[in-house]
Amino acid sequence: MTRTVLVTGGNRGIGFEICRRLAALDRKVVLAARRRDLGEKAADRLRDEGRDVTAVALDVADGSSIARCAEALAGDGVAVDILVNNAGVFVGGPLLSGPDPMPESLAVNLMGPLGTARAFMPAMIARGWGRVVNVSSAWGSFAEGLEGAAAYAVTKAALNALTVHLAREAGPAVLVNAMCPGWVRTRMGFDSAPWDPSGGLPETTAARGADTAVYLATLPDGGPTGGFFRDRAPLAW
Ligand SMILES: NC(=O)c1ccc[n+]([C@@H]2O[C@H](COP(=O)([O-])OP(=O)(O)OC[C@H]3O[C@@H](n4cnc5c(N)ncnc54)[C@H](OP(=O)(O)O)[C@@H]3O)[C@@H](O)[C@H]2O)c1
Repeated sequence: MTRTVLVTGGNRGIGFEICRRLAALDRKVVLAARRRDLGEKAADRLRDEGRDVTAVALDVADGSSIARCAEALAGDGVAVDILVNNAGVFVGGPLLSGPDPMPESLAVNLMGPLGTARAFMPAMIARGWGRVVNVSSAWGSFAEGLEGAAAYAVTKAALNALTVHLAREAGPAVLVNAMCPGWVRTRMGFDSAPWDPSGGLPETTAARGADTAVYLATLPDGGPTGGFFRDRAPLAW
């Protein structure tokens, strides 16, 4: 049975590589992007590689956009079996002065994954199979010191907590996990991110960042749920 995966923020960076890798594993990929034109352009690149990819418009910070996306997919008879909440923003700056970095960070990094979970997980639970991957960050780990910009750390820590509770509500047939891709050369990760040890191009590095998400999206039945991973290994909360 061919499983269908929806990847948010699939038009570039790590999300695009997650789409590419899962499509290469013969998953049917729904590449979600907040700008339809950028989503179509990215999907074209993968279709040119012979992959089964469709693009949908999805702004995860906008509840009505999530609802429209879910309705459009249901109308086309598309059931989402695997949800990868990859879209994220890094809004720098302190919490107590200057522009408040929290509203956008909360909307994209926390409420977005909750909104897509509410849109797609109940049907997974009803069908008795599903996988959810929340692309988080080690900067949201208490054990690693909640490093990085405050709003980013706080919202990724909250995404980790959300992961635990979604896994509890989902039951054993729908596996819900969070992951850290490592420090990756993307628009968010900047050029200062270390090169892939193999000396590959930035996109090779993004592919490496995508690896643990692909692993979690393709877990066998009975696999881990409610966990946090990096490089396919458990990571301390
Ligand atoms: N890069 C790293 O070193 C690193 C490290 C740890 C964790 N992460 C996490 O990995 C994930 C992907 O990051 P990346 O490095 O690939 O970042 P990126 O290159 O900046 O890409 C971010 C993606 O998220 C999308 N996005 C942002 N806001 C959105 C919204 N409201 N609705 C839908 N899509 C939205 C962007 O869409 P647009 O093109 O429309 O802006 C883009 O597709 C993020 O969750 C990030 O926190 C990255």
